[in-house]
Amino acid sequence: MSESYTIQYGDSIVVDLRTVPLTGRVLDIGGGGEGVIGQLAPDQVVSIDPSREELEQAPAGPLKVVMRAENLTFTDASFTTATLFYTLMYIPKALFGRVLRECWRVLSPGGLLLIWDTEIQEPGPQAAEAYLVPVTALLPHRTIETGYGVRWDGAAQTAEEVVELCRSTGFSSVTLTRDGSSFLITAAR
Ligand SMILES: C[S@@+](CC[C@H](N)C(=O)[O-])C[C@H]1O[C@@H](n2cnc3c(N)ncnc32)[C@H](O)[C@@H]1O
Repeated sequence: MSESYTIQYGDSIVVDLRTVPLTGRVLDIGGGGEGVIGQLAPDQVVSIDPSREELEQAPAGPLKVVMRAENLTFTDASFTTATLFYTLMYIPKALFGRVLRECWRVLSPGGLLLIWDTEIQEPGPQAAEAYLVPVTALLPHRTIETGYGVRWDGAAQTAEEVVELCRSTGFSSVTLTRDGSSFLITAAR
């Protein structure tokens, strides 16, 4: 029997990835599912995800490795870019600090961290049990229409707290761009 949830919808977002500066070797964290970043630069991307099924669903191209973001097994300074495309919302908030420290460690000096994600507010009076953000990703060769949803786990998520965590981890030049409830954070190692 399938479960049913009341769903709170975030603002629909169009993410333009046609000019994203993906340089060097790219670590895409939570790169299963649509594997959007892997589709953008298949030859450069190493996609990690704890779910083998999610990795298998993602289009071929990137190197796919079953691994958790909070415990990366790569050596230091292995990547020029690290990306999280609507992955942070799937990771328990208590692990964000560890995930960002791992990103810092595996990025080379001057490397770039890119986080696309959404704010998640406490459920309103309708007490939604799940949160879903409809996403349209514009790639140079195709447009991907999808949506990312999570069960409400009792922890709201704001862009500012992720920005603050990036700074306290040691990232510099941290910038925040908002579009409705979605946001993009860029940070330099
Ligand atoms: C739905 S995907 C996000 C979208 C995906 N980046 C794409 O391009 O479609 C989120 C992924 O995060 C993964 N995930 C959950 N916990 C994780 C963790 N601790 N470390 C890395 N990935 C995780 C999930 O298995 C899931 O495949």
